[in-house]
Amino acid sequence: MRRPIVLVSNAEIPEMGLNLLKEKCELIICSEQPYPSRADILRKIKGVDALFWCTHLKLDKEILDEAGENLKVVGTMSAGYDHIDIAELKNRGILVGNTPNVLTSAVAEVALGLMIAAARRFHEGQLALMSGSWNTGAAQWMLGMELRGSTVGIVGLGGIGQAVARRVQPFEVGRIIYCGHSPKKEGEAIGAEFVSLEELLQESDFVVVSCPLSPETKGMFNDEAFAKMKKTAVLVNVARGGLIDQEALVRALQDGKIQAAGLDVMTPEPLPTNHPLASLKNCFLIPHLGSATVKTRQDMAVLAARNILCGLEGKPLPAPL
Ligand code: DGY
Repeated sequence: MRRPIVLVSNAEIPEMGLNLLKEKCELIICSEQPYPSRADILRKIKGVDALFWCTHLKLDKEILDEAGENLKVVGTMSAGYDHIDIAELKNRGILVGNTPNVLTSAVAEVALGLMIAAARRFHEGQLALMSGSWNTGAAQWMLGMELRGSTVGIVGLGGIGQAVARRVQPFEVGRIIYCGHSPKKEGEAIGAEFVSLEELLQESDFVVVSCPLSPETKGMFNDEAFAKMKKTAVLVNVARGGLIDQEALVRALQDGKIQAAGLDVMTPEPLPTNHPLASLKNCFLIPHLGSATVKTRQDMAVLAARNILCGLEGKPLPAPL
């Protein structure tokens, strides 16, 4: 019997995931460097039975047309799926699964890191150290904000938002608030209060963005939102760059409408090195490292492979979309 063919969008998939697929499938691996290219994927995709998607390239009609009728299942090695045309996949009866939960704690750890780095001025401090302007004698030099006693506002209390809420508690925060469509029972269990977005913006010392990017949430952090925030507020984004109007953020950071930002995600990615955000001392940037740990990436690769294998075998996907 013919073994199913899986196109893997990227050569650098943790072996545990690839080995699982290799037991039952033939793999075609796109190996263009430094990133997978759309052209390479389009060249290799015809007739495949499944797609292992580990790229932020758009998975759209053009790719699906080129794949053709054999395509039965897509496993994206990501929790987010704003880059995938889910409606088009469903119209065509193609199954799709993602990798939620396994990356929750890794992303929450990065959120904590960004909160502290931005609030305690790590970037500005490091620039001062490296340029020889370390001010040893001053009691008022490089003062920042601390988590202790602060109000932490979480935009989107999904798995990652909840993990952030649980992780800030030992820092003796004063209050945890969150906003979203409706109150969640998990919020109550964590001791987080449901509030409107407006109240969250006005009350929070730290605003952590952990909600999905959708037409409804795109650009929700705009001039109007920044105007409502405390001048001492710290904004952290571990979700998607598109949630923030970056020009408005640059203005807010330059004009002191908010104190600082810590971002793991930006638009575009990679962010051009001459982007205004990269020149701001009160903006701490890291290159989308949320899920970038050895263990988490292994778990993601295995879950994406299991989604594909189950789809090919007609079994329920472990993490369907
Ligand atoms: C995801 O899985 O959506 C993450 O952003 C990838 O790091």
